[in-house]
Amino acid sequence: MSLIGVALRERWNHLLLISFLNAVSAFLEGTTMVALLLALNILFEQTLADLGTWPAAIVEWLGVSGSANSLFVFFIITAIALQITKSCTEFVSRVVSTRLRTHVSLYVQSEITSRLLSFDYGDLSRISVGTQNSYFVIADQVSKQLTITIINPLINSTFFILVYLIVLMAISPEVTLVAAACGLLLWMSLGSIYGMSKKGGTKIAEGEQELGRLVIDYLSAAKLLRIYPAANIFKKQIDNVRKRVLEAHQFTRILEQMVAPAIDVLFIVTIGVIFSVIYFSFDGEIAKAVPTTGVVLVVFNRLLPHFKQINTMRSTYAGLTSRIEKIGKLVSEPVPRLPADLIRPRYSSSPRIEIKNLFFSYPKVDQMTISNMNCCFQPGSINLVKGQSGSGKSTLINIVAKLYIPTDGRINVDGVNLETIDKSVWLDNLGYVDQECFLLNSTIAENILFGREGYSDHEIEEACELAEVNEFVGGLQNNFNTVVGDRGLSLSGGQRQRIVLARALLNKPRVLLLDEPTSALDIATETKFLKTLVQIASDCTVIMASHRDTPDKYAHFIVNV
Ligand SMILES: Nc1ncnc2c1ncn2[C@@H]1O[C@H](COP(=O)(O)OP(=O)(O)O)[C@@H](O)[C@H]1O
Ligand SMILES: [Mg+2]
Repeated sequence: MSLIGVALRERWNHLLLISFLNAVSAFLEGTTMVALLLALNILFEQTLADLGTWPAAIVEWLGVSGSANSLFVFFIITAIALQITKSCTEFVSRVVSTRLRTHVSLYVQSEITSRLLSFDYGDLSRISVGTQNSYFVIADQVSKQLTITIINPLINSTFFILVYLIVLMAISPEVTLVAAACGLLLWMSLGSIYGMSKKGGTKIAEGEQELGRLVIDYLSAAKLLRIYPAANIFKKQIDNVRKRVLEAHQFTRILEQMVAPAIDVLFIVTIGVIFSVIYFSFDGEIAKAVPTTGVVLVVFNRLLPHFKQINTMRSTYAGLTSRIEKIGKLVSEPVPRLPADLIRPRYSSSPRIEIKNLFFSYPKVDQMTISNMNCCFQPGSINLVKGQSGSGKSTLINIVAKLYIPTDGRINVDGVNLETIDKSVWLDNLGYVDQECFLLNSTIAENILFGREGYSDHEIEEACELAEVNEFVGGLQNNFNTVVGDRGLSLSGGQRQRIVLARALLNKPRVLLLDEPTSALDIATETKFLKTLVQIASDCTVIMASHRDTPDKYAHFIVNV
């Protein structure tokens, strides 16, 4: 069952209530029509005795009596009261569908968050951040359109059309048949419009994902865009995709708008046919046909917007299908749930990590990035992985972090195959620092914790002391509560590096993976950082990738790749 289906099923009581309220309002609408018909009959006949058989039967069943005048007033007032009640019921059903929208949107977006967060890194890294973000936008659009623009009006209109048909049936079965046949004809002839709406919807969904990717990419490169004279080209690219999306929206909107005039034309044809039916079935007694014709007109006038609505909904839904499918595809692949917060075993000492006949190639890449690698990382030491750019250092670090699975060969951790070690247990013993030094636009404290709970202030202080964060944090206005700006732009490279190291040291890692952590630092800061590492390495297996020579003299072992 689709994700939206599950969300809707969870709130089946809302759906039931919406159906019930709409059924009630449709019933009230139907009774209003009957009340009007009775009033019209009285208006034209003036006397109760001349009322047709079924209006007379209703008057008798209601037990109302009095003069024709008072009955006429009674039915008019009844009609008004019924309409007021109907409006109230409809309002309540709209409130319920608004609540349903909140639930569906929250449920779908929360599922998407959970899927994206628990995807394997290798799979996820192939979807750009902007594209990932676009799933949330799409999910919210779909939830809103489905619950508010489609479900409620659809249920509402279905009941109403049903009631109008019943009323029409009571007035004249011939008229009902003609109306139903014309409606069916129209329903089928509009089919091609929905096919086109679907195509427009596919263009919207694809364009929105591309737009998400471009916007996030370019907004993340604020500095570069101001240095390289490419801003105009990027702007043109974004504008072009946005234009494509908006034009696809415009196209589907126009298609939706075509529904109403097409129905209007057919409506006039239907009315013409129906009048002829009335004319001939009353056999020329036009005066008798007036009340019936009046009510038929009123019923048709009320029925038309519902028929338009139901057909517009079809077009809207057709436009949404590819967005619904996109979400469905994202969440259809089974992914492991987020790890439960169990107490996980910790390594009592730093382990020896042995790489044996390791092969690795990225998906859809023929060439092996790592080919038959054999080496060993010693515990309690700084193990330096050296090699030129592109030689596979980052890939190796990421394989050891269990972000990628080896194509062949194995990694032994104190003799145990890394593949058999539970990922969350492994990550609990791991510290990871990469070249990027990514910081959230949040406080220093939150950047060190990075969402992890259960750490005391003392543990945070310890990590900060080891990483020498305390040195500069004391000088900041709000100390640990200082907000660092987008990706830490208000800090120097060295300061960012320290915060990221403190983050990696918070869980007292037994294995510390460092991917070119000093490449953005000057020699003096780098030297300071390396001296800190020597201290950390006393009870930790430090594996550090670097293409520079400065770390050489601090390393206990060097592995060339
Ligand atoms: N996600 C990826 N998909 C495909 N190929 C990749 C990916 N990441 C890296 N590579 C390729 O793998 C090779 C090794 O990359 P990397 O491990 O980053 O090298 P290093 O860190 O030594 O500079 C490079 O040729 C690079 O193009
Ligand atoms: Mg690298």
